[in-house]
Amino acid sequence: MMVVAEASQESLKRRLNVSGGHGLNGTLRVSGAKNSALVLMTASLLSEETIELTNIPSLTDIDGMSAILRSLGVRVDRRADRIRLTAAELSGSAPPYELVNSLRASFFSIGPLLGRMGHARVPLPGGCRIGARPVVEHIRGLKALGAVVNVEHGIVTASVPGVRKRLSGAQIVLDCPSVGATETILMAAVLADGVSRIENAAQEPEVQDLAKLLNTMGARVTGAGGPVITVEGVERLLGCSNYPVIPDRIEAGTFLMAAAITRSPLLVEPVIPEHLSAVIQKLRDCGCNIDIMGRTVRITPGEITAVDITTQPFPGFPTDLQAPFMALMCTAKGTSVISEKIYENRLQHVAELQRMGASIRLEGSTAIVEGVAQLSAAPVTGSDLRAAAAMVLAGLSARGITEVAGLKHLDRGYDDLEAKLSGVGAEVKRNIC
Ligand code: UD1
Repeated sequence: MMVVAEASQESLKRRLNVSGGHGLNGTLRVSGAKNSALVLMTASLLSEETIELTNIPSLTDIDGMSAILRSLGVRVDRRADRIRLTAAELSGSAPPYELVNSLRASFFSIGPLLGRMGHARVPLPGGCRIGARPVVEHIRGLKALGAVVNVEHGIVTASVPGVRKRLSGAQIVLDCPSVGATETILMAAVLADGVSRIENAAQEPEVQDLAKLLNTMGARVTGAGGPVITVEGVERLLGCSNYPVIPDRIEAGTFLMAAAITRSPLLVEPVIPEHLSAVIQKLRDCGCNIDIMGRTVRITPGEITAVDITTQPFPGFPTDLQAPFMALMCTAKGTSVISEKIYENRLQHVAELQRMGASIRLEGSTAIVEGVAQLSAAPVTGSDLRAAAAMVLAGLSARGITEVAGLKHLDRGYDDLEAKLSGVGAEVKRNIC
């Protein structure tokens, strides 16, 4: 009985109360990109010297990655938004299951571990609510670079044969432009003998950020940001200081959609506009006026009308903003067709939005959204990180107080969302009673 009472007390704590209908005004500041920061942190495994990253967001996923790196012997020193990582001597090449399971990006450590140590033993990442998310492409790439890879009992064991234990450059054509596979292979190839070519590579800004960091550390990577990345292997990598993580394009997109769904003018900064071209275009198409002034974006929403989106790899519309955009379309005039093409199970927020009065019909991985005049508040749950953000956005526009559960997801990827939104006039409070 006691346990049940404590559990329900805990779940009560884990709710965000969003009071809808308040106009927003002011400037929203964007933190460093979660997906960039996580992979840049794993790059520390490639050097004996210290790498120092700045603009690190304050997120539970960053805490998780720090724990994983510590378990491998990396010294982690974090102060505010700055992190210093020193992998002078690695004490292990096998991060524990409990840590890897809760953070998919930690699987990507297999690339640098293999490049630096010649062996790695990394548990397969856990199942994911949004889809299967295999790592076949990562493994195929490592094999092409000369690693012997076995998958047994849920653990991927990889080693490089030979006395020198060095991978060899190779041509790798990815079946699909997987972000994680591109990053894993890139980090493995920088210390390989000879030249590697990754074709059909992911073009996401986070891949470009990784290549830029690696080059700052002395690697020779060209073409990142395009479909073919060339890597000329080097003997060793050096440390670096003050390397700034790029701004989080998904957080920025979420903020622009917060402005649109509340029909409020807002400034969002810092933003690298080219990272959000597809999103900015769709926001303009649906009735928002958007001015770009350097790294500041000013959004002034007009009447919001329905537009269709299809999620695609970069530079297409990102899957990570599909749920927030759907929340916006629930309040638009007309009917919008939203097709999810990256993940097979990333429409779980539909049922939650329906609980708030949204009119949505599902046909396979497509949602047909008919805008309604007003959403109404309800208790809802964010089933994954971006679904939770979509619930907060819907709550900002709904009549009444929306109780959003699923905050463990939200806290993985949004740096103090409630403080940021409250700062521009929203009424968003973490329920602590
Ligand atoms: C990264 C992002 C995530 C984002 C996703 C797509 C990080 C930490 N996470 O995830 O937020 O939603 O990109 O933009 O950067 N696939 C295969 N075989 C593979 C690997 C992937 O078929 O071996 C498929 C997946 O099932 C999925 C698609 O490729 O359909 C995209 O996955 P991928 O780009 O690998 O995503 P992640 O790197 O895991």
